[in-house]
Amino acid sequence: MCGIVGYIGPKQAFPILMKGLYRLEYRGYDSAGIAIVDSDLKLYKTKGKVSDLEKFVQGKDISGTIGIAHTRWATHGEPNDINAHPHYSQSKNLALIHNGIIENYALLKEEMIGRGHQFNSDTDTEVLIHLIEDIQINENVSLEEAVRMALNQVIGAYAILIISRDNPDLLIAARKGSPMVIGIGDDEFFIASDASPIVEFTKEVVYLEEEEIACIRRGEKLKLKTIHNKDKTPFIQSLELNLEALEKGGYEHFMLKEIYEQPQSIMDSMRGRLNAEKGIVKLGGISDYENKLTNAKRIIIIACGTSWHAGLVGEYLFEDLARIPVEVEYASEFRYRHPIINEDDIVIAISQSGETADTLAAIELAKSKGATILGICNVVGSSIARVTHAGSYTHAGPEIGVASTKAFTAQVTLLTLMALDIAHRKGTIEMSRYRQLLNELESIPDKVRETLKVDDQIKELARIYTYARNFLYLGRGYNFPVALEGALKLKEISYIHAEGYPAAEMKHGPIALIDREMPVVVIATNKGTYDKVVSNIQEVKARNGKIIAIVTKGDTAVKKLADYVVEIPETEELFVPLLATVPLQLLSYHIAVMRDCNVDMPRNLAKSVTVE
Ligand code: M6R
Repeated sequence: MCGIVGYIGPKQAFPILMKGLYRLEYRGYDSAGIAIVDSDLKLYKTKGKVSDLEKFVQGKDISGTIGIAHTRWATHGEPNDINAHPHYSQSKNLALIHNGIIENYALLKEEMIGRGHQFNSDTDTEVLIHLIEDIQINENVSLEEAVRMALNQVIGAYAILIISRDNPDLLIAARKGSPMVIGIGDDEFFIASDASPIVEFTKEVVYLEEEEIACIRRGEKLKLKTIHNKDKTPFIQSLELNLEALEKGGYEHFMLKEIYEQPQSIMDSMRGRLNAEKGIVKLGGISDYENKLTNAKRIIIIACGTSWHAGLVGEYLFEDLARIPVEVEYASEFRYRHPIINEDDIVIAISQSGETADTLAAIELAKSKGATILGICNVVGSSIARVTHAGSYTHAGPEIGVASTKAFTAQVTLLTLMALDIAHRKGTIEMSRYRQLLNELESIPDKVRETLKVDDQIKELARIYTYARNFLYLGRGYNFPVALEGALKLKEISYIHAEGYPAAEMKHGPIALIDREMPVVVIATNKGTYDKVVSNIQEVKARNGKIIAIVTKGDTAVKKLADYVVEIPETEELFVPLLATVPLQLLSYHIAVMRDCNVDMPRNLAKSVTVE
């Protein structure tokens, strides 16, 4: 969603801000803008890409050592030049950029129109900067105080940056519900929605907490206070992120790079946590809650999108291995449907970005009912990682492609470790079986590497099926979430309609769709309900559907029926999602490339969904 960058220091702001906007492109956006102060407050913005903004400002005055820049993902008002950020205040003395939603903007706007304010855009953001200036003038207070007072009137979520023509040595930042990081350099500050625009300049950062305001003055130390006027001491942390992780490293797209990183990212999520030789699983981040987890009567998993699919795999794992009942909930439904939450429930929140608004709200709800909340996040220092009682990072490294790939397999890896650990503690698994599974899990990164060798074959397959307008993905048991994930990947990046279904459910409806035009991807690996899946394939063939089957190496039965088979290495049934997902990621990737789609930044999508 919206991306924010700010700079104040001795250097020219423009190149730093533009570089930052390019780094934030992955978040998803539809317009971009920039404001810089020297003797004047200059503001340029345009619909389209950051490169369009760069062209737009050519030949214009962009000098100045303090500035703010923004990529906007439209919520209030269509994506156009006027609605793009930054927005001026009434007098054009202030400029503001904003990520989030001001829910009571309509009421505030009406009041200010009554006081003579004129608005140019349809945005909630413009209302906020008018309000700040209105307070500054009418209450005769400093800009910092006006921001604080205004934020007390606002309902909703915000990460904001403000600069002023009158004070080129001051930049104000504030956040509630939307992320904001401040990088501290030598007499300079870099501010952004996440660390990616900051990392090449400094590793020292402060994550703004909820309802905090940062007063960033040239040549002074960073000052923080809450919107309730309480002074805070900045907590400086060191970034672990490195620059190479944010670049394509020779791959055509981030998504392909991230698919290929999976042997490593799965290994990284197990590193220091799994020792198969000694039979040890140790998740340090949640060790204080081990007993609670082991004795849990129920686990509730909350997540959205791909993370929700990982949660479904988690349900199978926890129930199978640890015999704990699990409910997997869409965070957006959970938060509004008056769920029954008990104090002894364990809630596991899964999120790559750690910023998903619905997941955050669902966590707050469960927390308020006394449940224990554990997080599985990828982005270090993210909001979800900070609001949960404890948690484990997936350590998959930055995921830039909007379509989640390596984060999914890392989430599943972590859930697998958790389920194995609890099963072992509870005694719901035989020791010999436990040791066998740990050994097999350790071999998964190599097996993913082996699976990636199907890439050329998948490319050929993609060529055949770029014509298709619909796809069906079928799987049973552990492979049902894989089918859902395969279908989501295809629709996200290739804009082809795809549905994931439990294979046996097909005959209760979707079978009506099957004809000779319909590709049906079936995950038909050799364990669990394999024979039943073979029957489901026969049902599709009987109606002339085209079968693309993901099978275990050496399979014979499905080979006889399917139009195309893609072989993956043999593994335990519960680890199949970690392998079977890979060819489906590649299939969607190649189809999207062949259809000339913007793979890394698909239309309408945002990488972190910070609005509900
Ligand atoms: O950052 P999160 O894991 O909380 O994000 C959840 C979904 O928005 C995300 O998985 C989305 O579905 C992806 N685009 C899937 O590829």
